[in-house]
Order: sequence, then C-alpha cells, then structure tokens
Amino acid sequence: MRAIERRSYGGPERLEVVVTDAPVAGVGQVVVRQQASSVNPLDWHELRGKPYLVRLARGLPRPREQRMGSDISGVVESVGPGVTGLVPGDEVFGFGRGAWAERVVVSAEGVVRRPASLDALDAGGVGVAGITALQALERAEVGAGHRVLIVGASGGVGTFAVQLAKLLGAHVTAVTSTPNLSLVARLGADDLVDYTVDDVTRGIPRFDVVLDVAGGRSPRELRSVLTPTGTLVRCGEPRGQWIGPLLAFAGAALSTRLTRRRTIALLAERDRADLQRLADWLATTALRVVVDGVHDLDDVAVAVARSESRRARGKILLAIDAA
Ligand SMILES: NC(=O)c1ccc[n+]([C@@H]2O[C@H](COP(=O)([O-])OP(=O)(O)OC[C@H]3O[C@@H](n4cnc5c(N)ncnc54)[C@H](OP(=O)(O)O)[C@@H]3O)[C@@H](O)[C@H]2O)c1
Repeated sequence: MRAIERRSYGGPERLEVVVTDAPVAGVGQVVVRQQASSVNPLDWHELRGKPYLVRLARGLPRPREQRMGSDISGVVESVGPGVTGLVPGDEVFGFGRGAWAERVVVSAEGVVRRPASLDALDAGGVGVAGITALQALERAEVGAGHRVLIVGASGGVGTFAVQLAKLLGAHVTAVTSTPNLSLVARLGADDLVDYTVDDVTRGIPRFDVVLDVAGGRSPRELRSVLTPTGTLVRCGEPRGQWIGPLLAFAGAALSTRLTRRRTIALLAERDRADLQRLADWLATTALRVVVDGVHDLDDVAVAVARSESRRARGKILLAIDAA
C-alpha cells in the first residue's frame, strides 16, 4: 500500500510516497481502508517539528514516527481483539496517527460510523477541526442566547465553529477578511466583522465568549470585549518557535486567577462521544463540511503548502484511492 512518510523535520518537500506493508490491528484497534483525509495546521507543526517543544515529544534529532496525517475517513477492513461495536465493512470517520495512507491502524475509540448522508470525501475533513470547534464551544459552555465572537471564522476550525455555535443557539459575530465575508454569512453568522476594515477589540465589552482561532491578537485585547464574567478560549497558533503552547497554558491559568473573566487554552482531545455528536449533526445536514479544495494523496505537499499559507477557506481535503 502507499503511505506518506517523512524521515526528518522540515517543510512539505520532506514528504515522500512510500510503498509498504498493510498494518495489522492490535488490541482495541481497527484497520481502516482510507478514502479521504485532510490537512490540519497540526500536521505541518509535526512535520516541521515547531514549536521545538514538539521535538521533545516526537523524537530528537529525527522524528520517531514517520507516518503523517490525522483525519480518518474510510471503511473498516479488520478489527483487533476486544473491539466491540465495529465490524469489517463499516464506513467510519474520525482521527488517528498516520492517516495519509491507503490503510491506517487506529484505536477503535477514535472513529465512529459515518452517516449515510455524509460523503466519504467530506468526512475526511471533520476529525481534528470538527472536534476542536466543538470542544472549544463546550469548554466555554456556549448555550442559547450567548453572544459569541469567533476570530478566524473562515478556516477549518472556524467554519465548524460558526455552524456549531448557531446549532447551540448562540448569537454569532464572525471575524474574517473581505473575500470570506459571504462564505461566513452563508454558514449562519449573525454579524460580520471584516478585520481588514474594522478592529473588533475597539468595541464595548459585549461577548459572553470569544473563540480565538486565528491567534493574531493578544489575549488582553480579546478579553477587553468580554462581559465581566465572559470566557476567552484560545485555540489558535501558539506564539514563538520554542514552547508556544506552554506559554498559552501558563497565561490562561494566571489571567483566570487575576480576573473574573476565564481564559482557556484549548488542547483538543480524542473523545468518541464528541465525534458522535458531530456525526449526529452531520447526518441531519444542519452541519456541513466547507471544502477549500481536494488534492490527491500524491499531491500532499501541495495541500500542506496551501495549509501553511493560512488562507484556506474551510478544509483542504485529500482524496485517497486505495488499491
Ligand atoms: N488547540 C488545539 O487543540 C487546536 C486544534 C486544532 C487547530 N488548532 C489551531 O487552530 C488554528 C486554526 O486552525 P484551522 O484548521 O482553522 O486553520 P486554517 O484552516 O489554516 O485557518 C485558515 C483561516 O484563518 C483565517 N485567518 C488568518 N488570519 C486571520 C486573522 N488575523 N483574523 C481572522 N481570520 C484569520 C484565514 O482567513 P482570511 O484569509 O480571511 O484571513 C483562513 O480562512 C491553527 O493555529 C491550529 O494550529 C488548535
């Protein structure tokens, strides 16, 4: 089978197509014959080994794990011992390591059945971005009538976040650039802010929740538009080349101690119940996957470069045609 691997940290040019043996499912695992995946910023942080903190976890001087990719969409081919609830032939989606391959072995906890109304290709764009958006809104306890500001509304996470916040009953103000205003409006945002024209942090404190997906503004600026008991959720780009995410966690803990406004530095986690919630919404077509473009597995370097441009409108999908 074909798989995408890298042998050292670096840019998309390090990615190579290799031909390798198909994996075997261990205890609690399933082998999925992949039909689709997508590119997340997480993938090129892993690829580049940046912030450098990533290398402590992933291996020095070279990455221990050579396979790449995170989002799963395909058909269960075999199940390992101890797996209940999934059988060969089930169409599933979710996430797991090494997803940019014709076959991938993943924990059975990382996938759920794909609703019939959800296309296999689109399902490849749900895993990481959908879970991140949902968990960000859940952690902030977004509910009916809450005023939610989403900064970075047009990317992979943002397009899910706008739709999910509306499904949770919130009033959504979305921040994006001029070319993406109509896209975000179609997703249901109530108010739009074009960040090339207006500065949303100049307004009065009026939001119950600010979800920062873009990562370009300081937490202090974003907290200034929160109500006195509001919550800032940061899931965007960590600053700095070295320990980016750790600073975000430390800053969130400190500012929450010093003010009544809560700050959460989100680290999205694998959670089957959350995946199932997404599947249920996707089944009703109340939630859809916004597609930036579709690339073949062999063209993954082009897809990664597109993601690194930070201009993606929705999800960058990979079509995988397993032999
Ligand atoms: N903490 C976690 O667990 C977690 C999980 C997943 C993702 N993330 C992080 O979340 C961030 C977003 O991920 P993603 O998949 O949505 O990325 P993405 O798809 O690459 O986001 C691209 C979008 O960001 C928008 N954008 C860029 N700068 C902006 C700004 N200053 N203001 C408003 N929008 C801006 C762009 O819109 P314009 O072209 O209109 O600027 C583009 O549509 C990444 O930094 C990723 O690493 C964190």
